Amino acid sequence: MSSNTPRLEVDGLTVTFGGLTALDDVSFTVGDAETVALIGPNGAGKTTAFNAVCSMVRPRAGSVRIAGRPGPSAPTGLAGRGVARTLQGLGLFSGMTVLENVLVPLVGPDRSASGDPIEVAADVLGRLGLSARASTAVDALPYPDRKRVALARALVTRPRLLLLDEPAGGLGSDDIAGLVLTVRGLSADGCSVLLVEHHVDFVMEVADRVVVLDFGRVVACGTPDEVRADPAVEAAYLGLEAAAGPHRPTCPRAPPRAPCSPSTG
Ligand SMILES: Nc1ncnc2c1ncn2[C@@H]1O[C@H](COP(=O)(O)OP(=O)(O)OP(=O)(O)O)[C@@H](O)[C@H]1O
Ligand SMILES: [Mg+2]
Repeated sequence: MSSNTPRLEVDGLTVTFGGLTALDDVSFTVGDAETVALIGPNGAGKTTAFNAVCSMVRPRAGSVRIAGRPGPSAPTGLAGRGVARTLQGLGLFSGMTVLENVLVPLVGPDRSASGDPIEVAADVLGRLGLSARASTAVDALPYPDRKRVALARALVTRPRLLLLDEPAGGLGSDDIAGLVLTVRGLSADGCSVLLVEHHVDFVMEVADRVVVLDFGRVVACGTPDEVRADPAVEAAYLGLEAAAGPHRPTCPRAPPRAPCSPSTG
């Protein structure tokens, strides 16, 4: 991968479910060590975009490239390509301990991380402040801790691209402050992050760029400040379709990518 190759490139993605167009010609990129937030009202297509990136839905048109190569044909190929995700729900294995949950990606036939699984898991649990909970059944944990277990399970594969679906959902301000530090730390370590989130303050704190979806289409993109000032965004959240006008930003499709190119600073 050359230094200019995006970690993730989504180009012209269209996904339909029967008569419903969930994604309509959606394009955006996530650069090296960049954090991009995908925001938009309920039903805008955010999780569908994740699922398309993860080969969990087959797009009608468009392409997904990971580090310059076409995405894998099945989700089982993701870990080997350096991609991990969390689910919109927790998706933890009930009846198993924290450590057992976090070990799952490290012990299957598709395991890609090197090193002793127990040591890798212990390291990630330590970084997320979960060491003391390793032997606790996940069902016994408070919700914020269970969210961190879900994040830990994604991180044990040492992803280069991490997809987070509503990581701040259901968290209080202290836990969100911790999550901000975690995401910034990932970025500092060179991990690219694509996150879906409704918590606007969190998005504004961690995102380098924001892509706004409404009814499956990109209606705005740019830095957090640019997006905050974009009337199309307010229109999307208020349901005022007309205010968005005919303008449809490409976000971005090919170089030059201004004004939505990955940040360079
Ligand atoms: N497997 C599916 N079958 C049929 N329709 C689907 C499927 N998955 C999503 N949809 C529909 O596609 C649209 C986009 O859904 P999606 O879950 O991507 O939205 P979202 O932006 O993630 O919303 P939310 O913020 O509520 O999570 C919705 O109308 C949804 O009902
Ligand atoms: Mg969703």
